[in-house]
Amino acid sequence: MMKIQIINGPNLNLLGKREPEIYGAENFDDFLQNLQHEFPAIEISFFQSNIEGELIDKLHAVGFDADGIILNAGAYTHTSVAIGDAVKAISSSVVEVHLSNVFSREEFRHVSFIAPHAVGVIAGFGLNSYRLALLSLLRQNDHDRNNRQ
Ligand code: DQA
Repeated sequence: MMKIQIINGPNLNLLGKREPEIYGAENFDDFLQNLQHEFPAIEISFFQSNIEGELIDKLHAVGFDADGIILNAGAYTHTSVAIGDAVKAISSSVVEVHLSNVFSREEFRHVSFIAPHAVGVIAGFGLNSYRLALLSLLRQNDHDRNNRQ
């Protein structure tokens, strides 16, 4: 069974309540349940922390085993050399995601310490950014498998 880890960073535990005009009104648990129903053949695990070191520990713990990681590091995306280094250090493919289109927002959100080490970045589609990231990891997995055969 393909294993995908979703990791959410700071303040994303408040999804649904936090600035709904930017981040939407749906909470993450409901979205995750729907996603798990939509993709029953994939083991989708979820972790959220507001603490930088815990996000790094999680990347280390799953990053040599997961078939893909979907990472929304929240504001740490724009500040954390350490999370960028962790993404570089692991072997699992990481897709960086954002609910909002960070490029249409303040300039400090245009910088990412993660993107140079990610397979790609998906931003601006609300919670659907996570679904699109999952689809891209599935495609990549199929592609890798076909090339190995
Ligand atoms: C975010 C964008 C970040 O700039 C912000 O700090 C967040 C959420 C997003 O999903 O749009 O916390 O990562």
